[in-house]
Amino acid sequence: MEYLIYGLIAYLLGSIPSGLIVGKIGYNTDIREHGSGNLGGTNTFRVLGVKAGIIVTLSDILKGTLAASLPYLLGADVITLVIGIFAVIGHMYPVFAGFKGGKAVATSGGVVLGVNPLVFAVLLLTFFVVLYLSKYVSLASMLSGVVGIIATLVVQDYLLTIIIALFTLFVIYRHRANIKRIMNKTEPKITWM
Ligand code: G3P
Repeated sequence: MEYLIYGLIAYLLGSIPSGLIVGKIGYNTDIREHGSGNLGGTNTFRVLGVKAGIIVTLSDILKGTLAASLPYLLGADVITLVIGIFAVIGHMYPVFAGFKGGKAVATSGGVVLGVNPLVFAVLLLTFFVVLYLSKYVSLASMLSGVVGIIATLVVQDYLLTIIIALFTLFVIYRHRANIKRIMNKTEPKITWM
């Protein structure tokens, strides 16, 4: 029963479409109609600029962190990482935005932050190193997951390995179009780094 309740709360939290809210309220813009069309932090940076991009990225991270921390804080008898999966599903398929959401990156990171900040730091470091070298946010997002799997295997946190592997599968699946664009060299690169 607790899984059902906290899973539902996590799904609803994950479903909060930060990119849509910030875009509509602050800029009268639906970011799904611009740029890559994705309802995520990267497309918010692209379409609405740095301030909106930072707000949306942090909100999307926070959704995952909150969803994973809430059961722990309330003393629920559930595996918080399992609850975190529902937040990521909510972010990808949000009930509040026609089930058309983001690509799982920030909210997955937020879940990891909620349970193991050190592994989150590894993900973040990998993200920025790959971003610096490749200039592709999408590639940096996908490779962070792969390095996260390796890092958790090294520290023998096997439950986290399984969850990060699942998140990485979500991320890769949601980046199908980006992968095609990377291969035919049409994926946009960042210009600020
Ligand atoms: O977090 C999503 C990012 O990896 C790619 O976003 O908008 O370039 O498809 P986008």
